[in-house]
Formats: sequence, C-alpha cells, structure tokens
Amino acid sequence: MSAFLFLNSMRAKLLFFLAFTSLTAFGQSNIESTKMSWFKDAKLGIFIHWGIYAVNGVSESWSFYNEQISYEDYLNQLKGFTAKNYHPILWADLIKESGAKYAVITSKHHDGFALWDSKYGHLNARIHSAAKTDVLSPFIESIRKNDLKVGLYFSLPDWSHSDYTHHTKNNKRYAIKEDTMRWNHFTNYFTNQLDELGTRYNPDLWWFDGDWEHNAKEWGIQSIKTQLRKYNHEVIFNSRLCGEGDYKTPEIGIPITRPNTDFWELCVTMNDSWGYFPTDSNYKSPQQVIDLFVDCISKGGNLLLDIGPKADGTIPKEQIHILRELGKWNKKHQEAIYNTIRGIPYDHFYGPTSLSKDSTQLYLYVRDIPKNGELILKGINNEIKQVSIVGTGTKLNHKIFCKVSWNTYPGINYITMPVIETDNYCTVIKIEFDTKIDLYQDP
Ligand code: GLC
Repeated sequence: MSAFLFLNSMRAKLLFFLAFTSLTAFGQSNIESTKMSWFKDAKLGIFIHWGIYAVNGVSESWSFYNEQISYEDYLNQLKGFTAKNYHPILWADLIKESGAKYAVITSKHHDGFALWDSKYGHLNARIHSAAKTDVLSPFIESIRKNDLKVGLYFSLPDWSHSDYTHHTKNNKRYAIKEDTMRWNHFTNYFTNQLDELGTRYNPDLWWFDGDWEHNAKEWGIQSIKTQLRKYNHEVIFNSRLCGEGDYKTPEIGIPITRPNTDFWELCVTMNDSWGYFPTDSNYKSPQQVIDLFVDCISKGGNLLLDIGPKADGTIPKEQIHILRELGKWNKKHQEAIYNTIRGIPYDHFYGPTSLSKDSTQLYLYVRDIPKNGELILKGINNEIKQVSIVGTGTKLNHKIFCKVSWNTYPGINYITMPVIETDNYCTVIKIEFDTKIDLYQDP
C-alpha cells in the first residue's frame, strides 16, 4: 500500500470511529434521559423501613453495630416480628392516596434480615421470624396493582453474614486482602440474592445503601449493574454505588441551593427515625412535610418520604395522618406538582416556584399569605394571559408597575389574591403566558 493510500485509509477509520463514538454517546444520553423520565415526573416516593428493629423500637441495624444492644438481643427481635396485622393492600392504597408514584422498601437492611424467603443467607422473614412468611412479595404485588413503580432498597453490607468483613464497630471479621476467597463467598451470596430479587420482582429502581464500607472495585459495582440490567434494561440505580448511579440521594438535609444535577431525590424521615421508634415523637407536621416537598419540586428534585411500620405490620397513626394530609394537598394541586420542572430564581419571586414542561405556565407556591394578599412577581418579559388559583380556578387580578415606554424593563407585577380562598397548607397560583417564560436578565 502506498503511503498516500495508507494515510487515507487511516483517516477513514478515524472518521468512522469518531462518528461511531459520538453516535453511541448521543444514543446513550438519549437512553439515560428516557429511562429517567418517569422518575423525573414522579416527584414523590414513599420509603419503607420495615424490619425486626421495629419489635423493640431500636435504631435499624445500627443499634447492634454501634453496640447499644448485644447482637443476641437484636436477633431476639425475630420472635416478635409477627406481621399479624399486615395488610399490604392497605399499605399500597395509602401510598397511592398520598400522591406518591413509587415506593422503595427495605428488602434487606444492613442487619441482613431479608423480607423475602431467600434461598441464600441465614436470615429471612419466612424461616427465621415469627411471621413465617415472605412479606415482600404481597407488597410488591399490591404496589404494581396500584400502577406505582417498584423500588427495592438493598444494603450491600450484611453485618450478620459470617463472610462479611464488618460485624460491629469494634468487631471486624477480616480484611479483604487477607482472605479474598472469603470475600468472594460473600459477593456470591449477595449477587445470588440480587438475582432472586431481579428475577422475581423486576424492580424499576434499585436503591443501594452502605457502599461506604468498600470501594467500587471491591463491591464489583460495574458487574452488579450489568447483572441487574439483564432483568430490566431501563432500571434506575441510585448513586450509593460509590457514585456510579443515575441520581443523587441527599439524606435528611434538603439542598439549600439548587443542585446542579438533573436527577436527585431527598430521602427524609417523618420523625427522626427510619424504622418504627415509639419513643421518637419528634414528628414533622403535615405543613412541614409539604414545605419540604414544595422545596424539592421547586428545585427540580423528588422527595422520598419514609414510613416505619410496626412489627405487626400496622402503620403508626401519626404517619397515616401525614400521608393523608399530603395526599389531599397533592390531589388538589396535581397540575402544579407532577410533570413540572424547576422554577425561576428567587430574584423574580420571593418563594418557591415551578414551571410546566413547556415553560408557558408558572406556578407560585404561597405558604404564607402576604399582607393585603399582594404577591410580587418581577422581571417577566412575557405578557401575562391569566392568573388563577390552582384547585379552585378563581381568576386573580394583576397590575404592572414601573414599566416604562422608553426601555425594555418589564416592570413589577402585583397579583392580588383573596385571603379567604387560601389553602390550609400552601396555596398555588398559576400564571399563564402565551409563550415560553422569558426572564429579564439585564444586570
Ligand atoms: C443511611 C443509614 C440507613 C438508612 C438510610 C436511608 O444510609 O445507614 O440506616 O436506611 O440511610 O437513607
């Protein structure tokens, strides 16, 4: 081959390679955004921490890990995990009623107790607990019947398993580098469990936890993901896979500034505990939960709100109350919740907002009713077509001040809302424009 031909063929190969890689990169990001679309629109999920820790009302798994109670006493709770008043259909109905679009349940927490009748390991609801049955399957079935998405929480660490490196904070069994065979036994065990869960339930979302105890290579994160994609090519992974997931999971603390990521979910407790903890009465009020939810929506994220059922399967009344109140608010304001995108900067409105996907509708969340019922919206270049209250449809008057004929400054809108029509928790005002919202940006 002449030098000229050789160079030309190299060039063709290079061009082909570049075209191919950019196509795959494009295809990949398309897949990513389609597979994330239900999650992005869902806004609310319900997290369920259910396990033997509910029997004595101690902290989930951590109580023995942190040596607050002995491992023996912790396991004794198996005898009290009866599930005798467990009604998965009612759980699923309540979740639906709350307005949530998905549920994430602890199939196995760090203590290694599996809610399903796993063939693997030494601890599961059917063989070892007083319930003597698989409590996971009927729940998943009811969730699916309600047309909700299924998320499985799965702890990578299993502090009970004799081949796992950690048992309690002062009792480590071994280090991986000292006994890789033993570690391989452990990874085989949990990948077998993942296989059982994937085959049986084909979840829409995997919510991993506990990645901090080992690195991505030790856990085998890439092969876990490849394995789980076999059951569902579009499955979503949270980021507690040493950061290699699809979305971020801030815990308890609502982001103060807007996260610079498209996909995130705040997981939060209703009181200060994930599982049932009878002495913890520090419940947030429905108002505070709705405040958190509005904050998530306006910053473009989801809320994963936790409940901790009792060992007999009943859901504490305080938690039912919060879910029902939230559900009423969601039902009334659904158009301003689901299918919305993050709102506009606070420079334009002193409070949380969201936008319809085509950005022709702006929603203002008004928690505290301003003096004289006057709301101020600034620097919107568009002409306002209509202002109304979401849920009642009442039309509101608005008036522009400080708009002048000799430049483009769009002025300040005063919107007046009738104080008698305000919502108990948070009133939502809809502003409709002809075109996509256009914010005045001149500094
Ligand atoms: C933490 C805790 C765990 C809890 C989880 C929920 O990672 O270890 O107990 O289940 O957060 O986000």
